[in-house]
Amino acid sequence: MSMSIDEFVKRRRALLDQMTPNSIAILPSAPERTRNRDVHYPFRQESDFYYLSGFAESDAVLVLIPGREHGESVLFCKEKDPKKELWDGYLAGPEGATTDFKFDDAFPISVIDDILPGLIEGREKVYYSMGLDAQFDAHVMEWINVIRSKVRSGAHPPGEFVALEHYLHDMRLYKSAAELKVMERAGKISAEAHVRAMKACRPGVMEYQLEAEITHCFMQAGSRAPAYPSIVGGGANGCVLHYITNNAALKDGDLVLIDAGCELDYYAADITRTFPVSGIFSTEQAALYQIVLDAQKSAIAEIAPGKHWNHPHEAAVKVIVQGLVDLGLLQGDVEEIIAKEDYKKFYMHRTGHWLGMDVHDVGDYKVGGEWRVLEPGMVMTVEPGIYISPSDQDVPEKWRGIGIRIEDDVVVTKQGCRILTDAVPKEIAEIEALMAAR
Ligand code: GLY
Ligand code: MN
Ligand code: MN
Repeated sequence: MSMSIDEFVKRRRALLDQMTPNSIAILPSAPERTRNRDVHYPFRQESDFYYLSGFAESDAVLVLIPGREHGESVLFCKEKDPKKELWDGYLAGPEGATTDFKFDDAFPISVIDDILPGLIEGREKVYYSMGLDAQFDAHVMEWINVIRSKVRSGAHPPGEFVALEHYLHDMRLYKSAAELKVMERAGKISAEAHVRAMKACRPGVMEYQLEAEITHCFMQAGSRAPAYPSIVGGGANGCVLHYITNNAALKDGDLVLIDAGCELDYYAADITRTFPVSGIFSTEQAALYQIVLDAQKSAIAEIAPGKHWNHPHEAAVKVIVQGLVDLGLLQGDVEEIIAKEDYKKFYMHRTGHWLGMDVHDVGDYKVGGEWRVLEPGMVMTVEPGIYISPSDQDVPEKWRGIGIRIEDDVVVTKQGCRILTDAVPKEIAEIEALMAAR
């Protein structure tokens, strides 16, 4: 854990301070997931749970109770067990939960059915994110029903359930200095990985071999996994937005689109670069690429406090539509094409998303029906693209099968914004120079 434990304590305090006095919040850890037979997927803690705990074990439940005399932050977790630890590694145990993770109180997960109903009983309000984990939802109902079954003995079941994520996700949207430091490093590692892939690219290299170059950089730098499956699409594969098959040979004359970012200490980077397999853009590739790059720069210029969420997208769409009209790929009036969304067959996704512990991070995009106003500490991606389907009979053949996206990670600052991922080139001349020097 690279983030100081006090950062997690501070977050628990901030959430406790927002909760009403007579209430309780309950969060389960992620479950272990089976990959095949007795093999599990590598365990990755649930983001909300980790955000409040820094605790990376499964079979744990975090409970917050403002004003509780014996401790406001409580962790249920696996007990220490030398035999189990011999096979599966270190367990913190309830002792470690209080000493190392600074919980006020901790219990073995094996006794949660005996203890948690008692902690819920008498609290008016339960903060809980329902519908994410059906099995845990059922447990919560069981605990509530234990209390309900005792009303005739004077037990008081909670009267209100409140969506915990509403509070937590707003907190997660604003990144602290410590979070930005990690995200900056994740961006830098990912940028280096893209540079390495550009340098390793040659006609005949397999898409998965460029993926291997990317993964190599991530792991050498201490990232244990990509933040999402890396996309390496040569030629028309670049038009498949979530292409992860990555098993085709890269062809001379094609572009290759790489969308890859590492996860570092639970924070994601998300970068896309598109470059020529040969090292030199064709006329058509360069024309489309320049439109996407100009669109991306126009979008980034719209990121500053006071701007709203949709401003960068509107700017990108305008540049892309104008560019496609200039090239004759779209016909008509720019404003009209935008209003009728006729550009969507070439640009069908949004220009970005919040970025943080999850690659498509939490946080509302609209508040009270209006686009959210940008504030310092918010981090987003800016990723316009143009995709010309290989089977689009309505466009001249020379354009078909070209897929281009350019994506950077941007943090809103007091003055404007800062790009976290600019250590990988994106200007045509820069990319060609870098590849010429291979
Ligand atoms: N890599 C996922 C995205 O760009 O949204
Ligand atoms: Mn991406
Ligand atoms: Mn993205």
